[in-house]
Amino acid sequence: MHSRLFRLSLLLFISHTIAVVLNRTIDDGYGDPVTGKMPIYFPPSKPESPWNNQTCGGCAIQPNLNMTHRRTYTAATYHPFLQNMSITLDFTGIAVWVFFINANNAGIAVTTMTLANFTLDDQPPHLFQHVPDMTRTDNDFDAVAYQQDGLTNTPHRLLISTTGDSDAYVNFDFAIYS
Ligand SMILES: *[C@@H]1O[C@H](CO)[C@@H](O)[C@H](O)[C@H]1NC(C)=O
Ligand SMILES: *[C@@H]1O[C@H](CO)[C@@H](O)[C@H](O)[C@H]1NC(C)=O
Ligand SMILES: *[C@@H]1O[C@H](CO)[C@@H](O)[C@H](O)[C@H]1NC(C)=O
Ligand SMILES: *[C@@H]1O[C@H](CO)[C@@H](O)[C@H](O)[C@H]1NC(C)=O
Ligand SMILES: *[C@@H]1O[C@H](CO)[C@@H](O)[C@H](O)[C@H]1NC(C)=O
Repeated sequence: MHSRLFRLSLLLFISHTIAVVLNRTIDDGYGDPVTGKMPIYFPPSKPESPWNNQTCGGCAIQPNLNMTHRRTYTAATYHPFLQNMSITLDFTGIAVWVFFINANNAGIAVTTMTLANFTLDDQPPHLFQHVPDMTRTDNDFDAVAYQQDGLTNTPHRLLISTTGDSDAYVNFDFAIYS
């Protein structure tokens, strides 16, 4: 009797302790393969939209696709006349990481400073800034622009937005959530 109780409580203990944490990826161009959700880019379409992907031939910053997630990225240069540009990611999970491709010296007159506010649900915005290293021409891949853990395992919305009076370059490669 005692040993049955022991085994039962051991079983309950194990099933309560082993919670499997899995990571899923949201790609800038292919979205979340599990939920089918795509990132939402704003403004959504040309000519208003500043967003381009890796097929942009005329873009000044051309990151090496070999270094990107799934050979894609989505990037835009913000100018104050745009007032607001953003990416919205929806996911259900307990943690999230967002990976940017940051630029450094891409030549004179090319905007390479990165500025983006990360607003998770109703939390206050968290500003990410990358100041270009003018001694280098290469890009920084897999750059963690935002991370947050300790979330409840419920639906979350992450808004990545750039507003205000400064020019900025934002390049979104992928996000991971747990
Ligand atoms: C999930 O991804 C993050 C960011 O890359 C990593 O730090 C973490 O160890 C991963 N967790 C699992 C369970 O794979
Ligand atoms: C990349 O952008 C081009 C031009 O806007 C579009 O036709 C194409 O579907 C995009 N590709 C991906 C993978 O998002
Ligand atoms: C990407 O990788 C391929 C295959 O290894 C190589 O041939 C190509 O030169 C690389 N491209 C760049 C821009 O490094
Ligand atoms: C920017 O646009 C997004 C998407 O429409 C919106 O959710 C956000 O509130 C806007 N931010 C500002 C400061 O206008
Ligand atoms: C980030 O958010 C703050 C507070 O709303 C705002 O003052 C600032 O202009 C924003 N910065 C960018 C780059 O969007």
